[in-house]
Amino acid sequence: MTVAKRPIVVETIRGMREALAAERAAGHSIALTPTLGALHDGHLAHVQRAAELADVLVVSIFVNPTQFPDAADLAKYPRTLDADLLVLDAAGVHYVFAPSVEEMYPGGPTQTTVTAGTVGRLFEGASRPGHFDGVLTVVTKLLDIVTPNVATFGQKDAQQLFLVRRMVGDLNLPVRIEAIETVRESDGLALSSRNQFLDANQRRAARTLSVALEAVSSSADRGLDAALAAGQGALMGESLVQLDYLKIVHPQTFMPVDDDYRGAAVVIVAAQLGSTRLIDNESIYLG
Ligand code: PAF
Repeated sequence: MTVAKRPIVVETIRGMREALAAERAAGHSIALTPTLGALHDGHLAHVQRAAELADVLVVSIFVNPTQFPDAADLAKYPRTLDADLLVLDAAGVHYVFAPSVEEMYPGGPTQTTVTAGTVGRLFEGASRPGHFDGVLTVVTKLLDIVTPNVATFGQKDAQQLFLVRRMVGDLNLPVRIEAIETVRESDGLALSSRNQFLDANQRRAARTLSVALEAVSSSADRGLDAALAAGQGALMGESLVQLDYLKIVHPQTFMPVDDDYRGAAVVIVAAQLGSTRLIDNESIYLG
């Protein structure tokens, strides 16, 4: 079904709502892929899956200031709208919602926020205080503006995906959350908009994150301590990688599992390479 000339770039909330009201009136279902821009093949995997699930594809591009506790990190986050639009055009996206900060936060950061709770203060939330409150608040706003039938979120940001799913459940939001598998470089490095900040040595060292995840995974049948030791061993020899955390969490709670836990789990890792923070994760089975 042909829906519109594409992609139509919409900068206002009102314009987005009107365009999508017309699509819904025409009987079209809607998918939203929220992004910070600086798009790569990982984002295209979202769009491809979204195209299987809905008639109208909306990608939002908004570098959300409220999820960046570090002003320097916000300032240097790559902004590549023109290149992103070319990619999204080729991918068959119908609408790009690209609001300004003033459009999304006319009076400054909202007084009313969504609080991510205990899990939101762990791991990424511990290193970046307030990050997940900012994420959940902007995702709520985006879901309200676009009112999609389905919204895609990447497995790479496992904690974010967990928290978005929990929010949608807790607040009874009428949207299906579709998880999109992590896309990797040939050496295993997970695609990320932040990879472009790595110099050649850091880029070479960055593969250690996925090597460590593999080491944990392949030792998982020996229990938690042995699995974590294998992962830490893989990271130890790489001086450019400053480990923040390597943890094993329960998929249903995202809380660290007990030493004697057996069953499905997720190993999560975060590290600093120079000024660049990278995260990754893998599903495992602790035996
Ligand atoms: O994962 C991201 O790109 C962002 O956190 C999101 C979901 C677009 C919210 O700003």
